[in-house]
Amino acid sequence: MNIGILTAGGDCPGLNAVIRGAVMKGDRIHGQTFLGIRDGWRGLVEDDVIPLPRHEVRGLSRQGGTILGTSRVSPFRGDAGGAERVKEVMAAHAMDAIIAIGGEGTLTVARMLYDEGVPIVGVPKTIDNDLSATDYTFGFDTAVSIATESVDRLRTTAESHHRCMVVEVMGRHVGWIALHAGLAGGAHAVLVPEVPVTLDQVCEWVESARDRGRAPLVVVAEGFTLEDGDIIARDAVDGFGRPRLGGVGEALGPLIEERTGIETRVATLGHLQRGGVPTSYDRVLATRFGAAAIDAVVERKWGTMVSLRGIDIETVDLRSATTELKVVPRHRWDEAAVLFG
Ligand code: F6P
Repeated sequence: MNIGILTAGGDCPGLNAVIRGAVMKGDRIHGQTFLGIRDGWRGLVEDDVIPLPRHEVRGLSRQGGTILGTSRVSPFRGDAGGAERVKEVMAAHAMDAIIAIGGEGTLTVARMLYDEGVPIVGVPKTIDNDLSATDYTFGFDTAVSIATESVDRLRTTAESHHRCMVVEVMGRHVGWIALHAGLAGGAHAVLVPEVPVTLDQVCEWVESARDRGRAPLVVVAEGFTLEDGDIIARDAVDGFGRPRLGGVGEALGPLIEERTGIETRVATLGHLQRGGVPTSYDRVLATRFGAAAIDAVVERKWGTMVSLRGIDIETVDLRSATTELKVVPRHRWDEAAVLFG
């Protein structure tokens, strides 16, 4: 079998480990050959496909980013040619199947291609950990580790200057990174998109930390909005109406300073959270996902996606992968909120 692999959407630590896991298993156990599709769906639309022999994936599990490149191109947008164009390029390279590694957008395209008869298997990826069809996605653990280390570092400078520090982390729709990094870093407030709170409440936590002699630390997810007004929401969207990195933190910091009189600084972690080497947890999960994708291909489970359930890897329908967002449930935030202030 000749299998095409692509990585699409935002990059994420662990993508290379998936590629390595798939190629190693496919080559060794099944004698399969591999093709690298460059820059996600763009490579299929523009016929940018390269051989991906086993020696090319050597040592890849510890390397961040993706050796195949990525883009947000969709074969179904504009005059890209849709499933017909994808089938044409696949035929030109005698490609029997595709392993598509990506988040919600990528997996939606994968499902649409499957519906049009393309043999395809998905591998979920997102640092946000917001896909409900899998317990965890690789990249999340790395992002949380980077954010936690940053919170630890910001704490010492905040303490030295008796300042409040607002740390903005990624999380456009969900607050998993904020929640975990906030808990791990001992934040005095964790603000997530799922639970709007008032500015009064935020300032109460900040002042309570200050009154106990602490440097108040607020971790905020980029998609957070205040309950009592749209001042943050208005300033925080980009030209596409998406939360803008740095928008929430930059808007919130001055509000806290104005309201509490505590000097406040803002740090936006942004793409630092997606860069560099994956943690060991993410390398293991990504490698297992890659190997499991090969099992799914061998069993011709087209239209499915590999998924972590407890400690086991299973396959689930691609449709279920793209229908529901895994949000932070209220009780998980309440558990953490007991420690705020
Ligand atoms: O979905 C993953 C994510 O990292 C979000 O947390 C963030 O909002 C977004 O991607 C950033 O995307 P881009 O790299 O296109 O700026």
